[in-house]
Amino acid sequence: MLRLAVLVSGGGTNLQAILDAIDEGTITNAEVSVVISNNAGAYALERAKKKEIDAVCLSPKTFASREAFNEALLAKLQSYNVDLVVLAGCLVVIPQSIVDAYPNKIINIHPSLIPSFCGTGYYGLKVHEAALARGVKVVGATVHFVDEGTDTGPIILQKAVEVEEGDTPEILQKRVMEQAEWKILPEAINLIANDKITVTDGIVSLK
Ligand code: GRF
Repeated sequence: MLRLAVLVSGGGTNLQAILDAIDEGTITNAEVSVVISNNAGAYALERAKKKEIDAVCLSPKTFASREAFNEALLAKLQSYNVDLVVLAGCLVVIPQSIVDAYPNKIINIHPSLIPSFCGTGYYGLKVHEAALARGVKVVGATVHFVDEGTDTGPIILQKAVEVEEGDTPEILQKRVMEQAEWKILPEAINLIANDKITVTDGIVSLK
């Protein structure tokens, strides 16, 4: 049974997709052991509480230093004997100490087809604003392993979504979430939970 920690910052729709997939059996051999948010007001924490899953708020703002926060976050993950850390709408920068502690055991959902519209400054609506400003006709989402960079780790799954006439950033974000994020994040977790993934020289392949 793969023990998951899901790190969130906002509404938690990706977390909900994971919880629903576990309930429906499209994710097997995995359980959410803890949900951790840097934002006490994140509705994602309410979603966890409704499922009687430990919902923890660890905010950098309440620690004397960033280093102290990083140490507390690592200790919290280790206290739950976590096998996989899932960044689901998480806006906290994951420190090298945690990346080192969980090599190819941290995954992130990014709302673009990496390497487009990713890296520092590209998150949330900003991704979709940039896509519309560039005039791309296809967008999508990516699930990737987290390494020392920003959105630079090995790509696990991607799913494309059409841009439509009249799209606003908000409309496009919703379509990417509904048609891509909420599908490929649970699928990636299920693949990992059932040992279907290998990473060789930074390239992910399915067993
Ligand atoms: C959304 O912008 C989503 O595209 C990205 O994180 C943000 C919040 O998602 N992955 P969620 O509703 O908190 O899962």
